[in-house]
Amino acid sequence: MKKLEDDYVLVLNGPNLNLLGTREPGIYGSTTLADILVELEDLARSADPPLRIEHVQSNHEGHLIDAIHTLGPKATGIIINPGALTHYSIALRDALSAVGTTTIEVHLSNIHAREAFRHHSVVAPVALGQIAGLGPDGYRLALQHLITRCRLSREEKR
Ligand code: DQA
Repeated sequence: MKKLEDDYVLVLNGPNLNLLGTREPGIYGSTTLADILVELEDLARSADPPLRIEHVQSNHEGHLIDAIHTLGPKATGIIINPGALTHYSIALRDALSAVGTTTIEVHLSNIHAREAFRHHSVVAPVALGQIAGLGPDGYRLALQHLITRCRLSREEKR
């Protein structure tokens, strides 16, 4: 029998996002990844039904792909900021597509207003949607959306 606390959202952060807070604060702000996670964990815990956050940050493509394979299939949803992998990692996109879990792509900065090489996301076509340019709020809004979807799908099953 599945317990409520078994439900989790998988939050993935790609290369260089461990440096948030000190990395180019004019672009990415001064909020650290730890700050973002505290906010997400609070929101997940207070949701109805409550959820857990499983978080993986890695600077290595294969590590993120392994996390998608192992934690992705049973997740309520995936929130991913793939960092620079956004723009070229077909392998990451294929992993998300293979597990088929509802995925929201998040970027702190507005990738469409930056250098041309950042305008294209290879991940976007396999994501439910993309939030870019809203800073750390993007993660919160993505989680809020997954919480709402989770509640609605439970209500439909009743
Ligand atoms: C980013 C945007 C990417 O282009 C960049 O490589 C990052 C961070 C963002 O959150 O704005 O590492 O994903």
